[in-house]
Amino acid sequence: MCGIVGYIGEQEAYPILIKGLHRLEYRGYDSAGVSLINPKGKLSVYKATGKVSALEEKCAAEDLSGTIGIAHTRWATHGEPNAVNAHPHLSGSGNLSLVHNGIIENYKSLRSMLEKKGMSFCSDTDTEVLVQLIEYTQQTYHCDVYTAVQRALKSVVGAYAIALLEKAHPDQLICARKGSPLVIGVGTDARGGKEFYVGSDATPIIEYTNQVVYLKDEEIALMDRKGGLEVVNLSNIKQTPEMHTLQLSLDELEKGGYPHFMLKEIWEQPNALRTCIRGRLQVKDKDVLLSGIQDHKEKFLNARRIIICACGTSWHSALIGKYFIEEAAQIPVEVEYASEFRYRNPVIYPDDVVIAVSQSGETADTLAAIQLAEQKGAFLYGICNVIGSSIARATHSGTYLHVGPEIGVASTKAFTGQVITLCLLGLAIAKEKHTLSDEMFHMLVEELQRIPDKMQWTLEHNKHIDQFAQMFTYCRNFLFLGRGYNYPLALEGALKLKEISYIHAEGYPAAEMKHGPIALVDEEMPVVFIAPKRGMYEKVVSNIQEIKSRKGKIISVVTEGDKTVRNMSDYTFVIPDTRDCFVPLLAVIPLQLLSYYVAVAKGRNVDQPRNLAKSVTVE
Ligand code: G6P
Repeated sequence: MCGIVGYIGEQEAYPILIKGLHRLEYRGYDSAGVSLINPKGKLSVYKATGKVSALEEKCAAEDLSGTIGIAHTRWATHGEPNAVNAHPHLSGSGNLSLVHNGIIENYKSLRSMLEKKGMSFCSDTDTEVLVQLIEYTQQTYHCDVYTAVQRALKSVVGAYAIALLEKAHPDQLICARKGSPLVIGVGTDARGGKEFYVGSDATPIIEYTNQVVYLKDEEIALMDRKGGLEVVNLSNIKQTPEMHTLQLSLDELEKGGYPHFMLKEIWEQPNALRTCIRGRLQVKDKDVLLSGIQDHKEKFLNARRIIICACGTSWHSALIGKYFIEEAAQIPVEVEYASEFRYRNPVIYPDDVVIAVSQSGETADTLAAIQLAEQKGAFLYGICNVIGSSIARATHSGTYLHVGPEIGVASTKAFTGQVITLCLLGLAIAKEKHTLSDEMFHMLVEELQRIPDKMQWTLEHNKHIDQFAQMFTYCRNFLFLGRGYNYPLALEGALKLKEISYIHAEGYPAAEMKHGPIALVDEEMPVVFIAPKRGMYEKVVSNIQEIKSRKGKIISVVTEGDKTVRNMSDYTFVIPDTRDCFVPLLAVIPLQLLSYYVAVAKGRNVDQPRNLAKSVTVE
């Protein structure tokens, strides 16, 4: 949460910073701010509540010159989202300006210590405490600000990614990280000199350079116009920055003619999945190759148990993965909310494999969960989308989704990418363990290969959802029901609707509705049934009947050609036939489109729903 951008070089900093903030707005949009040092050495700070566009309006008439600057888009943690609490925060003397992503857990004790020393504060934020602490350290030890940052951060408990300007040194930009992500882009200016970009991820950087350094935990970087890049750790030991080449293209970060990123990402799914399975699903050779597993085969073959830790949508895909891995590879799988797992004292055996599923690879709880598992000796596997992310780097092995950047806050293509990757993983282990007959294995491989085409068909046949979404805008509640593989999908359908339309929705195993939720059903309650003509079809039909006799409105996702459920339903979405285990990959499409169009009809901000952020880097 919160996005940080920074620049130092020859170019005007403000346009680079603003563009970068727009790219990072998915991380939070409660307020935004920018700080610049102009050619005369004046340090200015501009802030606005709300989105980056509000900041731009506010800045329109200001002096925005300067070739060094930092900027921030905020997802509020400490202090309400107003202009005072917005970043950047200034030190007492006005010499330092700081942006921060993360949470300083001991900020209260640090603040009272600083107050006792006579320092005063304008905001309620932990960030102001941090900038004051750095200034206090600088003054106490008569050291330069680079050293002061190192010393100050030693007394900080919590997570941070920071970027700092010092008025007295307009040729230097400093940043540091622990827990929260930070990327430094290294570019070449028009005169052949070095210029530096800072971002919470690489999206603000990619159009200027593809050379990046992912700052590691407890590292501090000094970017100097003349001296280049220097990195030290908290003990002031020099580190060698590792240069990576970004594999991201600018087109992937644009809306490409769609009104929202979410709609673009929904439609991208067939191609995204093709990329995800390319080279991995080998239909001709009837094989599944995941290098992350090949390299650590023994770990999976000898695994007593697999534990999957995740949050949000990733938790739902993990649940589908559990059903599949247990069925195909016969290994017990537990799915844990990372936020719960990390604070229990879970039993973890050295022969457990712990898988983290995370689109961003930065979710603080998921990261902490695998760190705990590692301490207890487990083998760690990461399933992430963002390349080079913290979780990808903290795990022993893993598989990237390769579905391209997901910008819409509500996850869509990452969900299907995760589900298909977990299916690949289940198949790869099953092959090694011989837990599936050859015939079944081949059938699953061939069917999985067909999924992107079937997904395209599903998209084409459900485009019309926009025409009747309007009807549901009056609803206050929704129920989503499914059985087997479609129970996690019911949870995901409900989450999507909640996230972007703000309509209350619950997902339930269809049979469980008799134990409570059915009491809510009346003629105003739409109930979405995922009812493919497969495994538990008859049972779901009975469940539909039970809702119908209580006058609930039935919306169903059915297999093409099924008339029985269609006739029982008020609205029907069709999907092509597929194996039970792959139904969620298709049935999710109408659910995503339904949420999207209901939210649009309600006038919601689909890509940036209120109070949410895409990457939750605080616990
Ligand atoms: C946030 C996002 C969700 C996402 C969840 C987990 O809540 O809004 O879309 O599913 O975090 O994120 P991760 O990056 O770990 O998958």
